[in-house]
Amino acid sequence: MEQVIHIAYFLTAFLFIIGLKRMSSPVTARSGIIWAGWAMLLAVVVTFFWPGLHNYSLMIIAVVVGSIIAWVAAKKVAMTDMPQMIAIYNGMGGGAAAAIAALELFRGTLPNIGLVILAIVGGLIGSIAFSGSVIAFGKLQGLIRDRPITFPLQKILNLIIFVAAVGCGGALLSAHIPWMLPLFFVASLLFGVMMTLPIGGGDMPVVISLYNALTGLAVGFEGFAMENAAMIIAGTVVGAAGTLLTLMMARAMNRSLKNILFGAFGKEEIGSERCAMGSLKPIELDDAAILLAYADKVVIVPGYGMAVAQAQHKVRELMDVLDKRGVTVKFAVHPVAGRMPGHMNVLLAEAGVPYEKLFDLEEINPEFPNTNVSLVIGANDVVNPAARTNTSSPIYGMPILDVDRSTNVLVIKRGKGKGFAGVENELFFDDNTRMLYGDAQDIANKLVQSLKKL
Ligand code: TAP
Repeated sequence: MEQVIHIAYFLTAFLFIIGLKRMSSPVTARSGIIWAGWAMLLAVVVTFFWPGLHNYSLMIIAVVVGSIIAWVAAKKVAMTDMPQMIAIYNGMGGGAAAAIAALELFRGTLPNIGLVILAIVGGLIGSIAFSGSVIAFGKLQGLIRDRPITFPLQKILNLIIFVAAVGCGGALLSAHIPWMLPLFFVASLLFGVMMTLPIGGGDMPVVISLYNALTGLAVGFEGFAMENAAMIIAGTVVGAAGTLLTLMMARAMNRSLKNILFGAFGKEEIGSERCAMGSLKPIELDDAAILLAYADKVVIVPGYGMAVAQAQHKVRELMDVLDKRGVTVKFAVHPVAGRMPGHMNVLLAEAGVPYEKLFDLEEINPEFPNTNVSLVIGANDVVNPAARTNTSSPIYGMPILDVDRSTNVLVIKRGKGKGFAGVENELFFDDNTRMLYGDAQDIANKLVQSLKKL
């Protein structure tokens, strides 16, 4: 039987890898999730056949309760709340790995010192990922202040806590002191909390991705300790994918990982930056429609506001109407537009915008100088020229979409609200920019109606 279970675990790992591969393109991403879901189901089912297991009723209760909570939460969650959902589920993975470590270390039956070390390291990393993810969830959900929480000597205190956790882990190796185990986990969990508090909400997606990588690593270590191939492979794959995603996101925000983790980004209140000059110039809806209708080329720049307004379907209709009129329409997708990686791609794909129309930052930026109209829909930070020009801006150096270089810019937003970074945007004050105030879905709809009348 054990042989069959091992084969099933390898099959699980294989299916996870196929799922992950398919998730790399938005066209196949949904099926990738389903492949990975089947893999998880297989792993859970075969585990019940592991020889010598006890407590079947507890295991079944845990599976049923977990499945119901996850199903209901996933059905109810708004697309804009997805990052915190990912944070909390990810934290659960780290917590599960830490729980396995706690049990194995408590039992003290691991056959050799190497496996004990792996269990301890996995326990440390899993605990940090768990408590750190809980704080990330709290910040994104608005339960905890999302600005960096800092105080004097914080870094030294954090270092002391980390050294204490590692010290307790080391002591677990050398002697079996009963109270050392809880102390080890308390110090590890505390370090996860303390490490996340000084990180601002804007950096949370990168941190969540980092904890995702740590969770993978912890699961991999515990897989070694338990000699479970599925855990080793799945953990390694998650660890590698999470690390790559973390680095890619940090690069898209032009921040180093060190700066994100230890820089307390967003601490400065925004009044300290240079104030934008001039006034905001609104435009009538019909005039905006005329500008779009008679353009040769329109580049649509979606952002977080499009997601909040759920405007993607109306935006697609807008694209269709312009297409019919012979206007070339392209979409410029910034890597960190919205609130999670691939946020805009997912929404636009859901609305049926063809992939050929979506362009990355590097592809589209050279095209702005010969674009008649850039239509910014609920985007702010990702089109803020201060990132190029204002060295004192917190977003200075972040690659942006150069919409200010197009002939005309139309901006749809509700009012004077700032973006995630909380900084003023000089683009909105430019001579060639006109503001279309209102909810993105409503304005896109009105533009469609207006265009149809032309
Ligand atoms: P933001 O800079 O957050 O700006 C969104 C704008 O949308 C706001 O200025 C807001 O202005 C407007 N808005 C909100 N609701 C709206 C609605 N219903 N209708 C129309 N407009 C609406 O968005 P962005 O340009 O997409 O930039 C993303 C930011 O989030 C970046 O700073 C990025 O670093 C950060 N971030 C990214 C991620 C990832 S991985 N994508 C994750 C977390 C954070 P009004 O209030 O005036 O309407």
